[in-house]
Amino acid sequence: MVLPPGPRGPAALLTLAFAARPLDTLVRWHRRYGDVFTVPFLGFGTGVYVADPAAIRDLMTGDQSDLLAGEANSFLTPILGEGSVLVLDGPEHLRQRRLLLPPFQGSRVAGFRALIREVAEREVDTWRPGQRLVLRARMRALTFEIICRAVFGVTDPVRVERLRTALTAVLDSASILLVGETLRRDLGRWSPGGRFARRLRAADALLYAEIAARRRAGDLDEREDVLSLLLRARDEEGRGMTDRELRDELITMLAAGHETTATALAFALELLLRTPGEYDRLRSAVAADGGDARLDAVARETLRLRPVIDAAERTLTRPRRVAGWELPAGVKVYPAIVLVQRRADLYPDPEAFRPERFLEGGVESYAWLPFGGGIRRCVGAALAQAELTEVLRVVVSRAELTPVRAAADPVVLRGITLAPRHGVPVTVTRVGARLPEPALA
Ligand code: HEM
Repeated sequence: MVLPPGPRGPAALLTLAFAARPLDTLVRWHRRYGDVFTVPFLGFGTGVYVADPAAIRDLMTGDQSDLLAGEANSFLTPILGEGSVLVLDGPEHLRQRRLLLPPFQGSRVAGFRALIREVAEREVDTWRPGQRLVLRARMRALTFEIICRAVFGVTDPVRVERLRTALTAVLDSASILLVGETLRRDLGRWSPGGRFARRLRAADALLYAEIAARRRAGDLDEREDVLSLLLRARDEEGRGMTDRELRDELITMLAAGHETTATALAFALELLLRTPGEYDRLRSAVAADGGDARLDAVARETLRLRPVIDAAERTLTRPRRVAGWELPAGVKVYPAIVLVQRRADLYPDPEAFRPERFLEGGVESYAWLPFGGGIRRCVGAALAQAELTEVLRVVVSRAELTPVRAAADPVVLRGITLAPRHGVPVTVTRVGARLPEPALA
């Protein structure tokens, strides 16, 4: 079978070019080869990028039985566990997804907005004029705390810190999953595999202790955090989730939800600070009427121009016609989020950061895909959007920041996400007092 044309050269070099500058490289390949192109990645197999919204809609809707998405994430199983929604496919994936979705519905997430603002206010309270901050690192601390409180339902500062230490130690050693299983073996205390196993055991012990305590909690039926809702959830056969499943989903939500959101926040602030007038325009809108519409538009425009995930991924288990090409089984199809969202026919002047485009009217579906789509669409999308708008609301209304570097951070690959290379360093130039809560509502 003939695959769509794409960049030539050794797979190792193409993979290196992508890893060094994922955004620029994909944009260059798109310009050269058009909406459908093939890239033979080293270690990841042959991938076909698709940047046409109609073809992506065809792929993500209708019968999904010949497409796998969980399999591509299976290298994360040692951390996330076999019950994680991210690594499952087929009926097992649907069961977990049906249990997970209700706690993340918009109406539930609205209840977390005050909590998100409170966490953001406490962060900004610690900022001092003249201080240098790396925004991505500060935002990571903040989004961790939000997940801990809203998803895990843990608010006691001592337990939050204990979870932070144990869980970030596991997530930060995720690169060990990229080396072969033999090298990963637990060969004792000083081996990398041994250290990883120890960290994982420590994190699991804390997670299982939280789950056990919550099962016993007298107020379980009144609690609104995601873990408590999951403990009360039942599938179609009336079965609840096991401790193992709960542990796997808790760590999955943390892994999928905290760095991604922190990176999006760092990108948003960088774009606001580097686009003349935008930071002040948002601050004025918040001061005038709360700024809901502009905050939402800024979040959407950030995720359009700087999506944190470059592409969704589906592996074909049977031959399938995609964007006019007959593709064989085994090929990975990448709906190219980053490329669709830079199409000049959908977004005039696509390289410009212009939140107005989202104030002026709706966007065609499958033209804005930062959270992917179909039966694998991001479970935490509404929570992430609430975090983006509420944290930005607090930061822009209270802090004045100046970028440290002359030029915007290049976009690089961090794990599987696109991230600003230096984490967006800024200097705090002014910090205002907290605004009264009604003015922020
Ligand atoms: C700005 C922040 C975020 C971005 C850009 C993002 C993006 C994505 C993308 C692109 C996918 C894959 C969709 C697909 O394959 O079609 C995904 C899946 C997922 N995300 Fe997010 N995400 C974010 C935040 C979150 C948060 C806050 C949570 C939970 C607390 C979360 C939980 C998940 C889960 C569980 C999945 C797997 C869904 C499935 O396989 O059925 N994400 N996300």
